[in-house]
Amino acid sequence: MTEYRPNPVDTDDVELTPELLQLTEQIAENVHEVWAVGRMKEGWTYGQVKDADKKQTPWLVPYGDLPESEKDYDRNTALATLKLIVKLGYEIRPAAERVTRAARDEAAKDDQSKTYGEFKAKDLAVVYYSFEGSTEAVAKMIREKTGADLVKLMPETEPPRTGFGKFFYGGKSVILKERTRIRKLMVDLNDYKAVIVASPVWAGSCPPAVEAFLERRRMEDKDVYIIACSGSGKGEKAIRRISEGLKGNRIMSAMNLASPAKSPAETEQLINGLLRDIKDTSLSKD
Ligand SMILES: Cc1cc2nc3c(=O)[nH]c(=O)nc-3n(C[C@H](O)[C@H](O)[C@H](O)COP(=O)(O)O)c2cc1C
Repeated sequence: MTEYRPNPVDTDDVELTPELLQLTEQIAENVHEVWAVGRMKEGWTYGQVKDADKKQTPWLVPYGDLPESEKDYDRNTALATLKLIVKLGYEIRPAAERVTRAARDEAAKDDQSKTYGEFKAKDLAVVYYSFEGSTEAVAKMIREKTGADLVKLMPETEPPRTGFGKFFYGGKSVILKERTRIRKLMVDLNDYKAVIVASPVWAGSCPPAVEAFLERRRMEDKDVYIIACSGSGKGEKAIRRISEGLKGNRIMSAMNLASPAKSPAETEQLINGLLRDIKDTSLSKD
């Protein structure tokens, strides 16, 4: 038999967008789930050490509980697959997403008011969490206008999505300072000139996913703009938490948006003002 030499397609030249990079983590988790189902079907169970004779492995645990070294195997599989798809000439984007960079640039030619011109790649990132979609809609509005990269915080645990439990468990998680883990961020925020941090207000403050983001120093010496989305428009405490959590950066401005989903025109005006500020202050210095 001739010696086997693995020969994966060279995808070193493929650069994934931050959004696709974030997808890596979800795919990696699913790779693990699929692997675990397969193992269990073959009769494997959890054991503290791997023992092929007893069909036991320490990796039959939820993805979040795996050591980083094991997660990296799954991440590599996910990353290589995504890169290969792009290398083969396919485009991957959310089904509901009609605005691509190309379409945006095309639209900008006709309507200058739609974009803020000089925003270039790596000028602006929007880090956000959204449970019910309003903050996400604001983040997407910003992307549509500027081509900013979106970095969505994805917690491992969230309250139920409907009924009273949503407010009860969500509010309780803030009041009792319950912690959650967020999926690994696949982009380096230090690469950007300015970063918008957008968060819903929960029980007057930040949801656990945003707390988890603040817990680790993710960037330094950056121009940061804060957006708090709430039902009442009262997000001062959340803004304070985010400002404190991002010490070592420059908090350039903070904005309260009340029910942004219910007042899109007003929201758009405020966002336009913010983007003008970002352009005039953070992007004008070099
Ligand atoms: C668990 C929970 C707690 C909330 N607590 C508050 C609050 O204390 N004050 C407020 O004005 N709005 C509160 N809201 C409303 C949200 O802040 C508001 O709807 C926000 O726009 C939601 O953002 P999202 O759609 O991106 O998740 C709460 C919503 C949830 C789900």
